[in-house]
Amino acid sequence: MLTALKGNILEALSPDTLGIHPNSYLVLEDGRVAGIYPVLPDNITEAQVEDFGDALILQSFADMHLHGPQYEFMGTGMDRPLLQWLDTYAFPTEARYANIDYAREKYRILAHDLIQNGTTRVCMFSSLHTDATLILMEELEKAGVTGYVGKVNMDRNAPPYLCETTEESERETLRWLEKCKRFTLVKPILTPRFAPSCSPELLSFLGKLKEERDLPVQSHLSENTGEIALVAQLFPDCRQYWEVYDKYGLFDSKTLMAHCVHSDRRERAAMRMRGVHPVHCASSNNSLMSGISPVADMLREGQAVCLGSDVSGGTTLSMLHTMANSINASKDRGSMKQDVSQAISIEQAYYMATGAGQAFLGHGIGFQAGEPLHAIVLDDTGLPKLPNITLRERLLRAVYRLDDRHIRAVYSEGVRRL
Ligand code: GUN
Ligand code: FE
Repeated sequence: MLTALKGNILEALSPDTLGIHPNSYLVLEDGRVAGIYPVLPDNITEAQVEDFGDALILQSFADMHLHGPQYEFMGTGMDRPLLQWLDTYAFPTEARYANIDYAREKYRILAHDLIQNGTTRVCMFSSLHTDATLILMEELEKAGVTGYVGKVNMDRNAPPYLCETTEESERETLRWLEKCKRFTLVKPILTPRFAPSCSPELLSFLGKLKEERDLPVQSHLSENTGEIALVAQLFPDCRQYWEVYDKYGLFDSKTLMAHCVHSDRRERAAMRMRGVHPVHCASSNNSLMSGISPVADMLREGQAVCLGSDVSGGTTLSMLHTMANSINASKDRGSMKQDVSQAISIEQAYYMATGAGQAFLGHGIGFQAGEPLHAIVLDDTGLPKLPNITLRERLLRAVYRLDDRHIRAVYSEGVRRL
């Protein structure tokens, strides 16, 4: 069946290129993109058109780093650095997800709120609980959120109420992988929480499992100076943090590394050579006082940087806010260094919030023909109608001034979900 959305279509074609289609038709065949046209071609005039007037039609968002069980306490505890914050807020909250009824209730809300915010793709950490992780995957899939979810592995440097033995962690990971075969839109990703919470034996097991089953991996890297010092102490044979993951085969093109705030040239070069994807989490870097990531340098060096909300180190689920936060952080870095080249553009922010994640998840970028539609309709028509404002300027303004209340429609996998 042919359908079409009509409006001002904006697609992120590369970190530097915005595809701009004023007042155009996004034509779909059975929910898959057929093409973008300024007028409907003769052979498809029978398409059923949904006209969104002067609103913006954008790619929906890919939030490439967040923690499902942390959503409930978002906004609390924003006055502590990472390691204290984990002990005081994150670990006690995550422990509650041993209760599957509790998990069901909370994860249903999260899945709903993601769609409401226009996020249809995620790479998400669950907790260490296998059953709650399966519930999270189920609720996301039901709501139309696609992507990867990981059962967290942690067998040391964690409180006794949120720690597995190595054997348990390995066994539960295998049980989880077996049980998640039933999902079609949400797939498993191996998730060693971060180097300090995994023993060498567990990392070695995960590296072998990755290799055997060709699985993707997500973790944290060089987020915070206290964390980096702890890693140096725990893994004295590794010169830099990334070498821990590399040593155990967990550092390649199917790997997401959140934060990378303190990654110097050498660490960034290693990531680039291995094709590792950094995930920039500006809100969390600010909240937990981790630092300001060199994101403009990473992009200039050709790294495939994605964006993450890092809920709940981060304080918002909105990827519009996350884009604004990443632009602001880059300008703070530019101010500190008196170097305007540290500021990122709206093109870069929009690409990192959409296309970079799509590519990691194996999809075409922009509204590529043949891909199932992932899109939002963002209505900025209530904002002042400035003379001569361009669509590019409207996108940048929308990032700063709009939120989920202005999202009029959300499509995921070709299906309208809002
Ligand atoms: N490093 C290890 N665990 C976490 C977490 O839950 N949040 C953040 N921001 N960093 C981490
Ligand atoms: Fe995180």
